[in-house]
Amino acid sequence: GNEPRDAKDEQLDRFRSAPRHDALTTDQGVRVDDTDNALRAGQRGPTLLEDFHNREKITRFDHERIPERVVHARGAGAYGYFETTESLAEYTCADFLSEVGRRTPVFVRFSTVQGPRGSADTVRDVRGFATKFYTREGNYDLVGNNMPVFFIQDAIKFPDFVHAVKMEPHNEIPTGASAHDTFWDFCSLQPESTHMLMWLMSDRAIPRSFRMMQGFGVHTFRFVTADGRGTFVKFHWKPKLGVHSLVWDETQLIAGRDPDFNRRDLWEAIEAGEYPEWELGVQLVPEADEHKFDFDLLDATKIIPEELVPVRPVGRLVLDRNPQNFFAETEQVAFHTANVVPGIDFTNDPLLQGRNFSYLDTQLIRLGGPNFAQLPVNRPVADVNNNHRDGYGQQVIHPGTNYFPNSLGGGCPAHAGAGGAPGVFRHYQERVDGHKIRVRSESFQDHYSQATLFWNSMADWEKRHIVQAFRFELGKCDSMAVRERMVGNLAHVHPDLAAGVAEGLGLPVPAAAGTVTGAASPALSQANLLGEGIR
Ligand code: HEM
Repeated sequence: GNEPRDAKDEQLDRFRSAPRHDALTTDQGVRVDDTDNALRAGQRGPTLLEDFHNREKITRFDHERIPERVVHARGAGAYGYFETTESLAEYTCADFLSEVGRRTPVFVRFSTVQGPRGSADTVRDVRGFATKFYTREGNYDLVGNNMPVFFIQDAIKFPDFVHAVKMEPHNEIPTGASAHDTFWDFCSLQPESTHMLMWLMSDRAIPRSFRMMQGFGVHTFRFVTADGRGTFVKFHWKPKLGVHSLVWDETQLIAGRDPDFNRRDLWEAIEAGEYPEWELGVQLVPEADEHKFDFDLLDATKIIPEELVPVRPVGRLVLDRNPQNFFAETEQVAFHTANVVPGIDFTNDPLLQGRNFSYLDTQLIRLGGPNFAQLPVNRPVADVNNNHRDGYGQQVIHPGTNYFPNSLGGGCPAHAGAGGAPGVFRHYQERVDGHKIRVRSESFQDHYSQATLFWNSMADWEKRHIVQAFRFELGKCDSMAVRERMVGNLAHVHPDLAAGVAEGLGLPVPAAAGTVTGAASPALSQANLLGEGIR
């Protein structure tokens, strides 16, 4: 009997089951006399096929499972709102970011990446931080992680990377850690993963709570104004409670005693009215400055140091409602990097470009066909009006014809408005020119400077944790050649790191590998860069 909290909640109300009587029925609404005893020929006789209730009950049970997500299979979600605290109207025509005080309903799903749906929460892993904004101009999804960089630069490597990270193909071991041969084999052969590996071996990979994690959009995206002016943007979520991690031994104990530790924490905090909150910050880079940095803005293995481009706080995210049904909401929610609204556009980051293909593609099979945007959790609060028809699970009755142009009428929408009409998405008119080639830009070739920057910014105890993590995880790798190759890569990050890991694994300490740039500078401290140190 609670009043709906916002437009999304009101919409969900229409889909919440509200039976008008308490009798058991079949899916056809026929009342059932007995659900404990199947229909049989005589008290001790065979079960009869004509018992449609028995058959339906078992069939429905048999079909309860759908494929889990290929990555980020395990998660927890919640509803809430995003409130704009500083107008970005100067940079973007996105309606939901333009007006101070405007509230937009959201659904957020946190996840681990590697483990299957039933794995433990407190494993060493990246955490997903995906937000669906139900804006008045359509759904905008910010599908981020709790680390600001990624393992690979080009999405074409994603299947290789995930095959290496996931359980090994012959015995499906391990189900919840990065401690195995294929993972280290891949990373040691793919030096672009080194910066992300530093984050993964740090305490950021074992967060104490989803409420105490940062989030990052990772890629450089683009804000666009109504008159077509673009500005590069990186997105940052900063938790109000600060960033906190577990320590390794705690994670091991908790994984045994309460594998749902992070989920439970989120659920219970919201039930108790302790609503988790994050600040949204943006780093803005004018287009004219695209080539001003010693890394490429299109390279997802790089951050933009905050001392070069400060993070501007522009809004707050509050999660204040748990879902009512895990499957219907948290499992069926479908995030997609290509779900953008007017004023937010892509860049040519090759990792982002591939993601823009992958999410819809996987959801077509995971959610059983093309109509999953009609599922309650995925439905925009903005009106949907187009000529898409039919397909499995169609929930809408479309009267009239379904093509364009059309003079017979019947519900067929016209063009929403040519170039620049308010609230209409128009792709950013970027000039592109080039040969069709398969090469990685020269500007993507520096794989170690920011890994070194990260190492140099760590406190001594943080460095100790990183070395211990490398020793433990790499120590699970059976191949000595892989271990040595990995330690060889670490020598490019910092000799102390390589030496610490090598000693722990009984390997020869590699000679300093040179190319160690960015000497320790307190001003360049990663903790400063990211606004918040790990405590
Ligand atoms: C799922 C983040 C790179 C493919 C997810 C989820 C997150 C995420 C948060 C879980 C969404 C949810 O809660 O439902 C990221 C980030 C990336 C990245 C931050 C890099 C910056 C990629 C790439 C690909 C990819 C390169 C493919 C080329 C997928 C797929 C899913 C997924 C297929 C499952 C989606 C579903 O079944 O609904 N990713 N991802 N991701 N990601 Fe990524």
